[in-house]
Amino acid sequence: MGEQKRIGILTSGGDCAGLNATIRAVAHRAIGTYGWEVLGVCRATHGLMSRPPQVMQFDLKNTYPLLTMGGTILGTTNKGNPFAFPMPDGTLRDRAEEIIEGYRILNLDTLIGIGGDGSLAILRKLAQQGNINLVAIPKTIDNDLGSTERSVGFDTAVNIATEALDRLHFTAASHSRVMILEVMGRDAGHIAISAGIAGGADAILIPEIPYTITNLCNALNRLHEKGRNFAIVVVAEAVCTEKGERVTQTDRLGQSRLGGIGQYLADQISTSSGAEVRVTVLGHVQRGGIPSPLDRLLGSAFGVAAVDLIANEKYDHMVSWQNRQVVSVPILDAIAQYRTVDPDDTLVKTAQAMGIYLGDRADPAPIPHTLHSKLDLLAGREIPQRQSGVVS
Ligand code: F6P
Repeated sequence: MGEQKRIGILTSGGDCAGLNATIRAVAHRAIGTYGWEVLGVCRATHGLMSRPPQVMQFDLKNTYPLLTMGGTILGTTNKGNPFAFPMPDGTLRDRAEEIIEGYRILNLDTLIGIGGDGSLAILRKLAQQGNINLVAIPKTIDNDLGSTERSVGFDTAVNIATEALDRLHFTAASHSRVMILEVMGRDAGHIAISAGIAGGADAILIPEIPYTITNLCNALNRLHEKGRNFAIVVVAEAVCTEKGERVTQTDRLGQSRLGGIGQYLADQISTSSGAEVRVTVLGHVQRGGIPSPLDRLLGSAFGVAAVDLIANEKYDHMVSWQNRQVVSVPILDAIAQYRTVDPDDTLVKTAQAMGIYLGDRADPAPIPHTLHSKLDLLAGREIPQRQSGVVS
């Protein structure tokens, strides 16, 4: 089976569902097919900085339960860039050489890095500096990594957001409310548009397409005039206020995170329409839990393909999903382009064609007369007609 290898694998950046399924596939292919040794590096590059390096040895037995486990058994971090690592005394230190030395101490032949764009950029820089054989696997609920149509974790996040919308419909209809669901996604609207369409939203706001409060309220008003007593709005966390300001929360350490645009919209909608509005911020629920079958499949296909790249000594490459196939692309290409929602994307056209308010790039299509409350249709009830104003 060729030359014996010892490979390391780490997960870096925010966790997501499907990471453990990916690790399991790597172990199965590397150990089961090639007879190599697989070491899991703990807490991303932190494990390589520690002395002795922090690792766990994988075998076919201890990777058995990983398929359905959320999170990452290896631990991860989305903080502490090793090139400017925050030290306890408040200074920043370049710890890249310590990580490279950790790789050498472990006598690794290759490192598999499972990460998003930020993590892969750091890992690639380390690999270049330390002559590390790096192979990458894309993961991120945001699905914003270049050169791949899908990343591990995205599908589960969309499923969770869609399920949240399914639940919100009933409460919205019962209380005649506007319900806003704020979803993650960083600077891209992939989760919002996918879950929004799948979950029957009436308006979907994504960072890629500008909107106005007036047009958003007009769209909700039109629904009301057609007899709907509620409305569902999905907003991506990086959508800005009408004035173009990002809405963030800052913690006591001064670190700021996206969050709060849902409440901003709620205040605007209720002020201009008098509607009763409630906000749900889905947050980290989108990252956790049991991976969807699609994320298990993707992680398995990526894990196997990553090991095969190593067998072919094709380093500095990332496995990628394109046209229903796993291919490989240079890591540099993947991190060079941030993948946002293309305004000409099929999903954008689909949402617009279905009368979902998606911002003001093009005039929103008219709401079809036949669009009724899911709840009322399910219950076989008449849809209450309102006189004027937004759904309340
Ligand atoms: O990149 C994944 C992600 O969940 C983003 O969607 C979100 O903006 C961010 O990470 C949250 O980061 P943290 O876990 O540090 O709060």
